[in-house]
Amino acid sequence: MAAFGGRRPMAQTATKPASKAALFEAVRKEFPGTYDKVYTNTAARGLPSRQTRAALDAYLDQLVDGRVDKQANFNAIERVRSKFAQLIKAHPDEIAYTKNVSEGLNMIAGSLPWKAADNVVLCRDVEHPNNIYPWLNLQRRFGVEVRSVPDRDGAIDVDAMLGLIDDRTRLVTVATVTFAPGFRTDVETLGRVCREKDIFFLVDAVQSVGVVATDVEKLKVDGLAVSTQKGLCGLYGMGFLYCRRAWAERITPAALARFSVDLGPDVHEATMGDGHYDLMAGARRFDLGNYNYPAAIAVEPSLDLQLDLGPPVIEDYVCGLSHRLAAGLHQLGLRVSGGPPGPHLAHTVTAGKYARNTHESAGDPDSDALYKHLTDNDVILTVRRGMLRFSLHLYNNEADVDRVLDLVREWQGGKGGA
Ligand SMILES: Cc1ncc(COP(=O)(O)O)c(C=O)c1O
Repeated sequence: MAAFGGRRPMAQTATKPASKAALFEAVRKEFPGTYDKVYTNTAARGLPSRQTRAALDAYLDQLVDGRVDKQANFNAIERVRSKFAQLIKAHPDEIAYTKNVSEGLNMIAGSLPWKAADNVVLCRDVEHPNNIYPWLNLQRRFGVEVRSVPDRDGAIDVDAMLGLIDDRTRLVTVATVTFAPGFRTDVETLGRVCREKDIFFLVDAVQSVGVVATDVEKLKVDGLAVSTQKGLCGLYGMGFLYCRRAWAERITPAALARFSVDLGPDVHEATMGDGHYDLMAGARRFDLGNYNYPAAIAVEPSLDLQLDLGPPVIEDYVCGLSHRLAAGLHQLGLRVSGGPPGPHLAHTVTAGKYARNTHESAGDPDSDALYKHLTDNDVILTVRRGMLRFSLHLYNNEADVDRVLDLVREWQGGKGGA
């Protein structure tokens, strides 16, 4: 048995602290990236914990030593698959491994049986490019029509999307929470209509899973794609695709390899049958060859921690912080996307002038000066669409939020050299 994997989560190893704040302070200690800075960059990548570091170290020790236990690797893959499923309230057979969001979205785009003049409905203004190109590709390859609604004040206009659906609509896609301005989408309404009309409903959930509680059945989602480096606090190069079993089993995958095929129990992975094959059950048919074992081992401690704390508890705690931040920035007179905090807000707060294709610097002198003041003072954040983007997670606390607000005040008072 391997030395890595299957560890007890941090929150189970000690007696649980009495208050929520104390519980999350204990959690924070497991994330060394919080010790010397204010880390508000989860929308780009989440901080891995000490447990993740230890699990990876143990994996690398085996690899370097040359005594890799492949069965232990497979066991880790199946444990993590089950934990991904548990996190979004799905069944393990509904989870396929991918390397990122794009691969998950493209697996669905590439595998559905498209005909010319079928259409896809989305909102180009706020989707990440990785949830636009797969559909433009279908337009070019098969003549599929890409129907897009404009955003409504930064939000995905669900009513407008419903208005574009007709009897040639095969798929509707949205981000559950956008990468900028970071608003939540009314996924449930779209899900209900898509389910009634048998339209594939696909969500890019990389900006929500790990922070916002997700229940795929309640949301009536058919497909959901994430990667592990953001809210799941894992590595780049791994993601998963949820595909609802009833849909997955209607789909012939565009790509096929050993792990897409069911050769029965206890058959060695290198076995080649006589060419007749059955596809794996559910979304497992989208698995291909060898897995990203270290990335699975890296994400497992995060999953253990998140499942132990409970996704609704995490969402409530983190959104409490984001509301405090949005309210504070708004009071200080910053142009906060969406104005004062409200139901649109998840864990990401953006502020400044919106500029669709400006991502490195804000392109606005005030925002650029404030960004410099914040980063000079060890706040880690990014600029997206011209706006300062602060994105929080379970390792943040009120002191982080108040430090950001103090620095904004300081900059406004001219002490920050603005
Ligand atoms: C909403 C959204 N979708 C997709 C991505 C990235 O896609 P991928 O994991 O395929 O690189 C990001 C950010 O990296 C994102 O914020």
